[in-house]
Amino acid sequence: MTCFGIIGGGLMGHGIAVALAQAGHQVGVFDIDPAVLTSLSDRVGQALTRIGVPPEHACEVRDLIVPIGSLPDLARRSEIVVEAVSERLAVKHDVLAALESDIAPDTPIWTNTSVLSISKVAHAMAHPQRLVGVHWWNPPYLIPLVEIAPGAASDANVVKHAYDLITSLGKTTVLLHRDVPGFIGNRLQFALVREALYLLDEGVCEPETIDTVVRASLGLRWATVGPMENADYIGLDLTRAILSNLAHDLSTQTNSFPTLDQLLEQARTGRPTGSGLLAWPDGRGDEVAARLEAGIRRGLSAN
Ligand SMILES: NC(=O)c1ccc[n+]([C@@H]2O[C@H](COP(=O)([O-])OP(=O)(O)OC[C@H]3O[C@@H](n4cnc5c(N)ncnc54)[C@H](O)[C@@H]3O)[C@@H](O)[C@H]2O)c1
Repeated sequence: MTCFGIIGGGLMGHGIAVALAQAGHQVGVFDIDPAVLTSLSDRVGQALTRIGVPPEHACEVRDLIVPIGSLPDLARRSEIVVEAVSERLAVKHDVLAALESDIAPDTPIWTNTSVLSISKVAHAMAHPQRLVGVHWWNPPYLIPLVEIAPGAASDANVVKHAYDLITSLGKTTVLLHRDVPGFIGNRLQFALVREALYLLDEGVCEPETIDTVVRASLGLRWATVGPMENADYIGLDLTRAILSNLAHDLSTQTNSFPTLDQLLEQARTGRPTGSGLLAWPDGRGDEVAARLEAGIRRGLSAN
């Protein structure tokens, strides 16, 4: 049993707490927003109910997760610290600087950044060797993958310890050879999102059509046969021929996303404002959250 301290008890922080506590680890959670700590136990309970943990075991898991009122208190009791604050480099730098003054030089810190370079997150640290990217996917207690991403200064033992501990939770753990923004999963995901936005900009289809295509084809295929296995399966000569014919036509945009920017100018940010690429009437957000978790559970139990 390891005593974890999680900084940031939002969507990912509370979900990571559930994943760790389900394996019997103790978890303290600190957040700068007291309301996040007040709601922590309820959100943990709701997650455990949604994934079908029996009530008696849910109580045990819930008891392992405790809100902590200050960063120094969290630091004092933690053998490993998980950073899950907002995805802004300056915020992460401030949190890590404050944290480092309260913990031993060799206490490992795992950052859950989605896309930031681990070396950049570690840039201002006194002991950058203790930092490793441990990138969970939402919801962390359901999605099997966790990417372990070393920065240029990460200590090999810290990286291996993170890999082994995450694997011991029953997760599918992958280790990157070197630091790269977005790791593997988000690079692949956002290559597809960029291309989808380009198709909208070019007037090829409606946003709903993109989702239909992915859900009725690639989503099904990739859950069972990955793109590398599929490339071999169809033959690398065909893969090369398709790339020769298509690659020059794919989006290479780095800063021009007209459809997206137009929506943002109109403050249409999607679910939070009720309108975005799609319409978000009341209840759709909850329906999507429930559909997502149910779909993942179905997929996992079928494998
Ligand atoms: N949402 C996802 O699907 C997802 C998936 C993987 C990784 N991540 C990454 O995980 C991290 C957290 O994302 P999230 O979705 O949980 O965001 P969130 O907004 O739900 O939670 C972030 C929490 O950090 C807290 N916080 C901000 N500044 C703080 C500070 N100085 N000290 C303590 N707490 C502070 C906020 O109050 C908030 O509760 C980000 O780096 C994000 O990119 C998110």
